[in-house]
Amino acid sequence: MMNESNSIEEMYRILEFPELGDERGNLVVVEGGIQIPFDIQRIFYIYGSDDSVVRGQHANLRSQFVLVNVAGSSKVKVDNGLETRIIELNKPRMGLYLSRMLWKEMYDFSPDSVLLVLSDEHYDGSEYIRDYDEYLKALNHK
Ligand code: TYD
Repeated sequence: MMNESNSIEEMYRILEFPELGDERGNLVVVEGGIQIPFDIQRIFYIYGSDDSVVRGQHANLRSQFVLVNVAGSSKVKVDNGLETRIIELNKPRMGLYLSRMLWKEMYDFSPDSVLLVLSDEHYDGSEYIRDYDEYLKALNHK
């Protein structure tokens, strides 16, 4: 169970996906349970955001995610209530795994950014914590 005693390094991970490119171009493969450390239940993607937008700003009670900038770049700030880290996503072969109960913000989207998100849960708004004080309280009650 993730809680405030988890160091932030245990709560996110940079992934590098295999690239099966040849003279025809590049092909990157991600499979649930192999490169992605969970079974994939949901895919969504974010595009048309720019460098004035901050997205995310929530934590999830259950969902885990892998984020991939399949085009362009963005930054992700992760926060476990004690520490923060900033990760730049800027390669189609690069994934960012995020555990449950990690506060996250996505920002600094390049104009061509397409941010693909994989999750192990179907969407359920009730497992999103969208208030930072509530998030800190939820951590303390674990
Ligand atoms: P939101 O969680 O605010 O997106 P982000 O974290 O990227 O800023 O989602 C925006 C809206 O879309 C919100 O009304 C919830 C809805 N939504 C779904 O219905 N299903 C989904 O899988 C996601 C991610 C969002």
